[in-house]
Amino acid sequence: MLNGQVAIVSGGMGDIGRAIARELARLGADVALGDLREPSEVGSFLRELEAREVKVRYDKVDVSDAGAVEAWVRAVEQALGAPALIVPNAAIVTLADFRTVKPEQWTRELRINLDGAFYLAQAAAKRLLELKKPGRVVFVGSWAAHAPHMHIPAYCAAKAGLRMLMKCMALELAPHNILVNEVAPGYVDAGLSGRFFDADPRKREKAREIVPVGHLIQPDDVAREVAHLCDARLKHVTGSVLLMDGGLSLVTAGHSPEEK
Ligand SMILES: NC(=O)c1ccc[n+]([C@@H]2O[C@H](COP(=O)([O-])OP(=O)(O)OC[C@H]3O[C@@H](n4cnc5c(N)ncnc54)[C@H](O)[C@@H]3O)[C@@H](O)[C@H]2O)c1
Repeated sequence: MLNGQVAIVSGGMGDIGRAIARELARLGADVALGDLREPSEVGSFLRELEAREVKVRYDKVDVSDAGAVEAWVRAVEQALGAPALIVPNAAIVTLADFRTVKPEQWTRELRINLDGAFYLAQAAAKRLLELKKPGRVVFVGSWAAHAPHMHIPAYCAAKAGLRMLMKCMALELAPHNILVNEVAPGYVDAGLSGRFFDADPRKREKAREIVPVGHLIQPDDVAREVAHLCDARLKHVTGSVLLMDGGLSLVTAGHSPEEK
């Protein structure tokens, strides 16, 4: 389904990033991953992807450095071709409420989660515009973009900003056949919240109890929705939020187990 397409995924060595890479490779896309790890640390994962008979590339890149992201996009184009499936996914989270979050924590979180996503989306989409090629941008957002969480205001603000960036980009790029959307997961039992649940498994159980559908999300679930929004048969979906929070937003308005 995605044969001959090149995908670029930031935070590609994280739990959700690796699941996205696996799914896009499974569907036939060549995959470029960027993350903070040394290239020497990621060899076995790259080999796993290559077993799908797709081309794979890894670069160590800090998404909060605009110049580095631009250079990354250029290097990927030279090696694999211009990426047309663009997945800004890298993020961090700082557990600190409004009264205690330090200015440098606030700034770092917005630099990575919002600015970093913008740098990748802009650099890659501008190249597609120059080449007059179609494409898909799928931001990995969060239900925290619309549901306030007291303990992570910087994360919520960054994800809310990301959502509006997604909509502005979608409007501007629609006439150029570049569709821009967001996948917004709720509680994922991996990655940022998985580590938090590992530190106190009772919070995992509490989270499970709160989610109306009664189970937490796995990285593969997110990956499938990202791939869905990359499907060339989707012609009309742009500026959309694919909310996959198991119904959390319907009932909790931001109450989460760590606040209890
Ligand atoms: N885990 C959840 O519950 C959850 C819920 C909703 C949304 N999300 C979103 O999913 C995405 C992936 O998160 P995850 O849960 O897999 O976490 P993760 O920590 O496993 O993955 C994030 C990756 O981003 C990388 N990264 C961090 N700073 C970077 C930087 N400056 N430059 C490049 N890479 C950087 C990390 O090294 C890591 O590999 C994020 O956008 C996150 O906000 C996660």
